Amino acid sequence: MIEEVRQLESTAVAEIQAAADDKALADLRVRHLGRKSPLRLAMGQIGKLPADQRPALGQVAGQAQKAIQAAFAAKETELRRAADAGSALDVTLPGRRPLAGSAHPLTQLTDELTAIFEGMGFDVADGPEAEDEYHNFDALNTPADHPARDLQDTFYLEGGAGLMRTQTSTVQIRVMEKTPPPVRVVAPGRVYRKETVDATHHFAFHQIEGLYVDRGVSFADLKGTVEAMGRQVLGAKTRVRFRPHFFPFTEPSVEYDFSCSICGGNNTGCSICKGTGWIEIAGAGMVDPAVFEAVGYDPEEFTGFAFGMGLERIAMIRYGIDDIRLFLDNDLRFTRQF
Ligand code: PHE
Repeated sequence: MIEEVRQLESTAVAEIQAAADDKALADLRVRHLGRKSPLRLAMGQIGKLPADQRPALGQVAGQAQKAIQAAFAAKETELRRAADAGSALDVTLPGRRPLAGSAHPLTQLTDELTAIFEGMGFDVADGPEAEDEYHNFDALNTPADHPARDLQDTFYLEGGAGLMRTQTSTVQIRVMEKTPPPVRVVAPGRVYRKETVDATHHFAFHQIEGLYVDRGVSFADLKGTVEAMGRQVLGAKTRVRFRPHFFPFTEPSVEYDFSCSICGGNNTGCSICKGTGWIEIAGAGMVDPAVFEAVGYDPEEFTGFAFGMGLERIAMIRYGIDDIRLFLDNDLRFTRQF
C-alpha cells in the first residue's frame, strides 16, 4: 500500500510538470486530487487498516498530497510567467503621449482679431464662400462691364451656379440686407482668386472684413479704428499710413500700411518691408452711396466705413513665414510650431 502511494505521487508530479497549459493542469487536478482520485481512495482505506499500520500510511499519503499540491503551485506560476513574457504589455515602457491638437495659425490670428474688434463693439458675421455674382460684384457697385472685375477673376461654378467669392465684402451686403442700420460687424473668412500659386500668391486665402454704418460715421473713425487694431496686433509703436486708392464700393478709398514692426523702418535691407518702413495691410474707405442704395439704406441719413485685410499677410509678418503655400499644405511640421 505504501509503495503504491509513493508510486501515485511520483506519477502525479511527473504529469503535472509536463502539463502544457492551464486546461491540462485543471484536468490533472481532478485526476490526482479529486474525490475519486487514487490518492483520495487510498486515504479512504486508512481507517480500515489494522491500527498499527495506519500512522505509516497516513504519513506517506499526507506527504504525497503535499508534494502534488506543491507541484501544481509551481506549475501554475511557471505557466503564468510564460504567458506574461509572450504578451505585449511591458509595464516599464513610458506611455504614449496623446496627440494634442492646436489651432491653425490663421485661426489663432482670426480669433485674436475678432476679439480686438469685439472689444470695440463689433459683432462677428459670416457668409457663404460659394456666392452669386450679385453679392460679390453687382451689389458692391461693380457691374458686369466694370474693369475692376478683371482684377478679381475667380472660379465660376458649373451651370451658372455662381462663383467662389473673391472678397469678404460680400458679407457687407448680406448683413445690410437683413439688418437695418446701425451695423458694426467684422467678417473673417476664406476667399478665392484665379492666381498662379507661388510664395506670395495663392488661389485661396483669408480676409477679415469690417463694416461700420451709423449716423455721422467719419473717415477719422476709420483711421482711429484701424490704428487701434494695428497697435494691438503689431505693437504699441505701430503707425498707420493711408494712401489714395480705388475700390468700386468705397468713396473715397485708401490702401493702408502699418509701420514695419520688424525693422521699425530703419533697415534698408529688411525683407518684410523691403526697406520702405511700411507694410501694406488692407483696403478701406467710406461706403459708396451706391452700395447703400443696393441694400435699401438711405445714403443721406447714414454713412459708414469698410475695410478688408489679408490675414496671411499679417500672419507672415507676425511669425516670419516666407511662403504663403505653407498655410494650406497641412504639413504637421509647420502647423505644430504654433
Ligand atoms: N474687398 C477689397 C479687396 O479684396 C478690400 C476692401 C474691403 C476695400 C472693404 C475697401 C473696403 O481688395
